[in-house]
Amino acid sequence: MAIPSSLVTLLLGMALVLVGFWVGQNVNLLPLDASSNAPVYDDLFRVLFVIGTILFIGIVGLVLFSLVRFRRRDGDESDGLPIEGNLPLEIVWTAIPAIVVLFVGIYSYDIYERMGGMAPLNDHSAHMAHQAQAMAVQQASAGGQGDGDQPRVWGGIGPVDPGEAVLPVEVTAMQFAFLFHYPGSNIISGELHVPSDRPVELRMEAKDVIHAFWVPQFRLKQDVIPGQTTVLTFTPTRPGSYPIVCAELCGPYHGGMRSTVVVHEPDEFEAWVQRNAPAPPPPATVASAPTAPVA
Ligand code: CUA
Repeated sequence: MAIPSSLVTLLLGMALVLVGFWVGQNVNLLPLDASSNAPVYDDLFRVLFVIGTILFIGIVGLVLFSLVRFRRRDGDESDGLPIEGNLPLEIVWTAIPAIVVLFVGIYSYDIYERMGGMAPLNDHSAHMAHQAQAMAVQQASAGGQGDGDQPRVWGGIGPVDPGEAVLPVEVTAMQFAFLFHYPGSNIISGELHVPSDRPVELRMEAKDVIHAFWVPQFRLKQDVIPGQTTVLTFTPTRPGSYPIVCAELCGPYHGGMRSTVVVHEPDEFEAWVQRNAPAPPPPATVASAPTAPVA
């Protein structure tokens, strides 16, 4: 029985790894990246895609090769070889998946944690503490004693400048729509309008059942729950219009529960606020000003 020599196996393995890396670098399955946590997420996705490509081509290739190479020949009625086991082979095929799975698990956990996934859902102060911790880590790294730890991007707020003004927006989800309220200017809108390069904090609550706020281009998704506010933060980086999709089965018209987030240049956003802010109530003195009676 001719098994490929170890040299051929080694070369095929190296070619397979190169193909995997090429596919990971050159095939893009993800939508546009429009927030500061998209690059972090996309790096993880690329690594998973490389590993997946190598495993898929390797396993499917080996199966197809074996189907052809070891098929039953005409007239061959003999039994297969009685193979009892192969300890080195079993160690290898246990160790490699174990290492891959551990690596993927630790890497994913790190990114989830950096995006604030471990912070309580509705705890604004926990988020702020997380942010302060991120700043400390960043300063330690800048001071030369850091171990290369990257800044945290909880909910998408990248390296946060404590003086930076966060834009708060209250989100109400209901069957089957999202409503956005801007506490500063008192605007209520069916579309989310935000400026680019400024952190946005969504405080979300559902009126009826569980919904989920999802913007694929931001690589962010968060549940919206009745009776419990959830906080989601992000920094949009690319002006444009992107879909908001409800990502939790919430009723018969769940599939139609969509909206749009419009990311403006900062001055355009100011203009949008000016155009849409409700007019202040007219001063009472105007209404009661007497017109000059002519007798
Ligand atoms: Cu709301 Cu699905």
